[in-house]
Formats: sequence, C-alpha cells, structure tokens
Amino acid sequence: LQDRPRTEFEDNDQHPVGHGRMLRKEDPRFIRGKGRYVDDLQLPGMLHLAILRAPMAHARLVSIDTSAAQAHPKVKLVVTGAMLAEKGLAWMPTLSNDVQAVLVTDKVRFQGQEVAFVVAEDRYSARDALELIDVEYDVLPAVVDVRTALDPSSPVIRDDLDGKTDNHCFDWETGDAAATEAVFAKAEVVVSQDMVYPRVHPAPMETCGAVADYDSIDGQLTLYCTTQAPHAHRTLYAIVAGLPEHKIRIRAGDIGGGFGNKVPIYPGYVCAIVASLLTGKPVKWVEDRSENLTSTSFARDYVMRGEIAATKDGKILAVRTNVLADHGAFNGQAAPVKYPAGFFGVFTGSYDLQAAYAKQTAVYTNKAPGGVAYACSFRITEAVYLVERLVDCLADELKMDPVALRIKNFIQPDQFPYTTKTGWIYDSGNYEATMREAMRIADYDGLRREQAEKRERGELMGIGISFFTEAVGAGPRKDMDILGLGMADGCELRVHPTGKAVVRVSCMSQGQGHETTFAQIIAEEIGIPPADIQVVNGDTDQTPFGLGTYGSRSTPVSGAAAALVARKVRDKARIIASGMLEVSVADLDWDKGSFHVKGDPTKSVTIQDIAMRAHGAGDLPEGVEGGLEAQICYNPENLTYPNGAYICVVDVDPGTAVVKVRRFVAVDDCGTRINPMIIEGQVHGGLADGVGMALMEMIAFDEDGNCLGGSLMDYLIPTALEVPDWETGATVTPSPHHPIGAKGVGESATVGSPPAVVNAVIDALTPFGVRHADMPLTPSRVWDAMQGHPHPP
Ligand code: CDP
Repeated sequence: LQDRPRTEFEDNDQHPVGHGRMLRKEDPRFIRGKGRYVDDLQLPGMLHLAILRAPMAHARLVSIDTSAAQAHPKVKLVVTGAMLAEKGLAWMPTLSNDVQAVLVTDKVRFQGQEVAFVVAEDRYSARDALELIDVEYDVLPAVVDVRTALDPSSPVIRDDLDGKTDNHCFDWETGDAAATEAVFAKAEVVVSQDMVYPRVHPAPMETCGAVADYDSIDGQLTLYCTTQAPHAHRTLYAIVAGLPEHKIRIRAGDIGGGFGNKVPIYPGYVCAIVASLLTGKPVKWVEDRSENLTSTSFARDYVMRGEIAATKDGKILAVRTNVLADHGAFNGQAAPVKYPAGFFGVFTGSYDLQAAYAKQTAVYTNKAPGGVAYACSFRITEAVYLVERLVDCLADELKMDPVALRIKNFIQPDQFPYTTKTGWIYDSGNYEATMREAMRIADYDGLRREQAEKRERGELMGIGISFFTEAVGAGPRKDMDILGLGMADGCELRVHPTGKAVVRVSCMSQGQGHETTFAQIIAEEIGIPPADIQVVNGDTDQTPFGLGTYGSRSTPVSGAAAALVARKVRDKARIIASGMLEVSVADLDWDKGSFHVKGDPTKSVTIQDIAMRAHGAGDLPEGVEGGLEAQICYNPENLTYPNGAYICVVDVDPGTAVVKVRRFVAVDDCGTRINPMIIEGQVHGGLADGVGMALMEMIAFDEDGNCLGGSLMDYLIPTALEVPDWETGATVTPSPHHPIGAKGVGESATVGSPPAVVNAVIDALTPFGVRHADMPLTPSRVWDAMQGHPHPP
C-alpha cells in the first residue's frame, strides 16, 4: 500500500466522493493482523462452549445421557433440548416467521443439527466432552430431493407444526398469469428451459461465533458476536428471551466476511447466552469450518422452469417461470415479510416486456435451514440467472447475436422510472451505453472473429454475456419490514469543538470499507476531511437503530442517512456562521468546508471555526442551541437499481472438458461512485464468487441426507489460480432519489457474473449442439453435456 502513488484524493480533500481512490482507513489494522474478531476476545473467567450435532439427517430422539460428560473434570454445564424446553427456549423464531429448534427436543431434521451443548473451562475439554454424551436415535428416511418432497409418500419433516401433513412450506406468485398466457399463446417463438441453481454456501473466511457475557448484578447481557444486523438481533433476543431490550448490548467487532451468512440468529448464539445466564460467566462459542458449511444458512437451491416468448425478429414479449424452492428443515430465509420469495420478482430482467408471471412452491427437506441472500439482494441472483440464461436460449433459437438481442429489448433511458410487469419501479439506467462500454473494453467484434477462427481449428472458445438489474437498498417502510421491523436506518453525526467528527451508523461493515466510504460521504457534505471523521458501527449502545448490512443496502439506506444528517449539521452551521459573520443566512455561500459572505470570499468561517463557536462561550444566534450535531432516521422512497454488463471469455479443453476463464469484463453502473477503489474490490470479490458458483461450488447430499461438502476440500471455492485478471469499467447513472445519487454495488458482481460464465461455456459448446447445462460446470458435467447429457441428477 505504501508504494502506491499518491492519489488525487490524498492531495486534495476537496472532492472526497468519487474523485479519487482514497485508501481504506481500516486496512492498517487488517494488514497488520490487528483486526478485532470475536475469537480474539479473552474475558476474565471465560468458559467455552461446544455443540453436539446430529450425525444423520432425520431421526427421532429416543434418549440422551449426559452423565459421563457432566462428570468430566473441566465441564461446567451440559444442556439438552429438554432442559431448554423447560425454560421455553427450545425453539426460536426465524427471520421468515417460521420456528427453528435451538436444540433438538423431538426429532433431528438435518445432519449437523444442534442436539446438546457442553460448557467447559477450555475449548478442548468442551469438544472432548461431546464424545461422552450418549444419544440414542431412531433413524427415519430422509427427504433429500426437492422434486419428490411433496409426494404423499414422503415422511413429514415438520410434524412439530400443528396439523402439518406434508412438506409444503409456502406458495407465492407474482405478475399476471392470464395476461402472460395470452401473450405466450400468440407468440411466434417460445423457448422453454429447465435449470437448477444449486445449493451454495456463503463461506465467509471467519466462521460464526459469539461471546455472551451476562452480568447478574445489573441484569445486563453483552453479546459480542458475528452479526450483520446488530440492532435487529438485539430486538429479537429481547422478544425471544424476555430480557429488557435496554439491558442487551450487541457488540460486533471486525467481521471476516458475512455475505448473508451472518444475518440469521443461529442456535449457537442462543446457546452461548443461555450458558452465560446459567453459569454467570462469559461464554465463548466459535464454530469450526465444517459446522459453518453444514449447519449455517445456505443460499439458492432453486429448481426452475423458465419460458420466454418473442417475435421471430427478436422482440421479447414475455417471461414466465415456475420455481421449486428447497428451504431445508426450517424456513430461515432472510427476506422482507411481504416477499416470501425475496425480490425474485425482478426475473423480468432489464427488458421491456408485455407480460410476466412467476409461481413458486417452497418445500421443506432434511437439509440445513436457510435460503439466505448470499451476496445478493433477497433471491435476485436466482432471478438474474434465470432471465439471462433464457435470453441466451432465445438467441440460440433465433440464431441471433446475444448482445444484439439484449440491446434490441433493453428498457430505454427515457422509460425510467420504469414499472416492471411484476411491480418494481426501476429508478434509472442507460443500459445500452453500459453494454457498449463492456463491448468496447472486451473488443467484442474482435472476440467473435477470434472465436470463428478457433472453431475452424476445433478449439472451444466461448463468449458469455450477461446484463443485470438489481433491486437494492431495502427498503421503504411502507413496503418492507423484517419480522415487523421497518427497514429505515438511523444515523447520528457529532462535530466536536475542534472540528473533528464522529458518525454513528446502524449498518455493519464486514469488510466492505464503511469506515472509509461513510467518512467520505460526510466529508463531501460538510468539508471535514475524511481522516478527521470516525465511523462507529456494530455496537447497539453506541449507534442508532437500523436493520444492518445485507442486500447491498448500506450505501442506498445508511449512506443516504449519512448524507442527510451531514446536511442537517450544515444547515445549523449556516445559522451559526451567519451570526459569526453578521449577515443573514441568505447572504452566505457554501464553499466546501466554509461559509463566506456572498460576493466577498475573504469574509469566511470554516466548519472548524463554526464547531468551536457552537461549543464556545460566545453568543449564538437566537433560538440556536449549543453543540453541532444531528440525527436522522432515513426511510428510502424506493430501492436503487444498479445494473451492469458482463462479458466472459472461456476456453474449454476438448480433451478434459476443463473450463478456463480467460477474460472477464465487468462494467457496473452503481450511480455516483463514492470510492472507485473500494467498488473495484467489491466487484473483484463478487466476480470470484460468480466464477465459483458457475464452475465449482455446490453443497451436495447423498440419498440419506449426508452433506458431502463439509470442508473446503470438498466444497470448492475459487483461488487466484481459477480466476483471470478482472477488467472493470463503469458508467454512471445517478439514482434520482438517493441524496448523492449512489446505488449499491456490493453484490452486483455476484449476481451478474454466474450467467455470464455459464453462457460462455454453453457458447463454447455450440459445436456439440448444447443449449443448457446446469451449474456447477465441473469438468465432468461439461463432459456429460458434450456427450449429450446436460442434466445431472
Ligand atoms: O451493504 P454493503 O456495504 O454490503 O454494500 P454497498 O452499500 O453496495 O457498499 C459496498 C461498499 O462499496 C461500501 O464501502 C460502499 O460505500 C462502497 N460503494 C461506493 O463506493 N459507491 C457506491 N455507489 C456504492 C458502494
């Protein structure tokens, strides 16, 4: 970092937003290994908790004998589901209005489910003692295949739910079935395609964990934990555990990646709290990699049938889909209450359609619960994959260039705000310009020429396109809540007498660089240099209420709150400045960082002068209170709709079917760009995610429900060797309703890249007549597709 040339920004604090590549304020501690993660915490007298997990996917609990574990000399406590049930704590609500067992009381419902826990003086003893617990299970047949889960012969997984006689979880539909059918009936061309978005895992570098510290004297519970949503978690603990909310303090320190995995409340957190309440000591629980991969929330797992209707010359008329969604044993999906299938409604893509319709059936299976939005705004990744694959299937049918087909159907700039056939109001975009920028960077025509030459020689080169529109920044209170909690975000800004500032935000960084970008937003608005602005997040006692960070909502919601709170402070500063300069407020001009008298720049006061006056002994204008601070709760009027054009180039080895991603061009439009370097980092990470999902990631199960991806030896994630040097670009179409025009970007690349990679592989396989093959496109799957078997079981 020190070798980097000084940037425009570092030499000039006048344009904090967008004009430079300000280095990240948090990196000095990260690159020196000084991050403060939950497992770094060592509290006096702290005990350690380990969880006994079920070895099979479906079984009735017959008996559990903990006496040997309790006799272990270093064990302080062993707790079973029956003991939790006595306290009314055996079950907890999920984020989707379902319930989930904290510890098994009646039946194991997925392999790896929490059965009992041990608290001991050290971590090793806690783990050793797990082996001393004797559990007798009555093993039941497991429901593994989502396609047969609703068969009358399938065992009922959720017999804990009153009157439940099948594995049905929920039904949901959006769009207009009849209108869509009418368009399909008359369409000249209809293309259908079955496709699967496999179960994948967010796999953050840091696993989940917590240290619970209950102080029985003043009744205060402090929970240090890995959470993307500290305030929402606090409220839920208060509701579930019956503890007064003001006596609960959630403290999330540094977090080593979340990607949606750290949104839910996991049984481990609750167990740590119970353990601290019972022992009166701080208790640490940190899961290992296998526990994280097998028991915490997965993502995707959609079996989709898509259909697209068009004219012969390539005007897309309608899209419809039928989805079978595997939600695992408990519906732990994170999605606003009114959106049981998340924001899947944007499956209409970036195209101007006449009609659209989606129907979804969600089912329970004997797999880990979840359906979290892994680096995606509530199921948008699945929606984008569906439509971008369908458009490529249509291009194949019509023998049209996939770029030309997309450009022909894009929503045009003058159509924004554009209401889709499923009711989403896209705020802004200039899709063709974004697409053409990607084509320019990639030299699209040159690539097609190269491909034609290579095909002559029998080489398998593929070019894949994807164009995505995301809906991020959940969301307007009138439309969205999670378990009744509205999705507006608070923000507080306090300027100290010496002109340094602290901004307190409700969102929670997991490595996205909020300490830097939020300081930049405030700096842009009130002219205090970013280095003089401290960003505080993650501590519910120190920050205002808000729903946290996921679904790329930080910049659209908390970022907007930060800009507006700074404007509030600036408005107050203006009144104080008018007193200091003895002119009326209307006679002042703002010049980043100072007010001056109109027409006379020599008569000016800086924001630092004003801060001192605001706290000083001198008089303030009538009616103005001392101090220079403000707070706000920002309720967004709409989501923001970032978009992007991605072009992927692959080479497939005809002998081994190994796919090599040779080039990847990503042009993102996230509106106003606060920190281009951070955006680039976010995009790079998301693209790697996308290559992983497209080519190698899948949580697989055998027919008994045993998870086959319980370690990073089996669950493959891409390394530097599997990804190319990313080529990134940008167009800027500001969001009209965001105070600084910014849209989210954190997840764009994860959302947009899988279809680009898959489309590229399918394009490479054109000589074999392959129209589709399911992810992950491992060599064996590509080989099967080349042999005419594109659908593995
Ligand atoms: O909610 P999350 O932080 O995961 O996603 P985000 O709001 O899209 O922001 C990811 C990172 O990119 C943050 O540090 C943002 O402030 C930064 N960003 C930016 O610099 N400019 C934008 N237009 C959007 C995000």
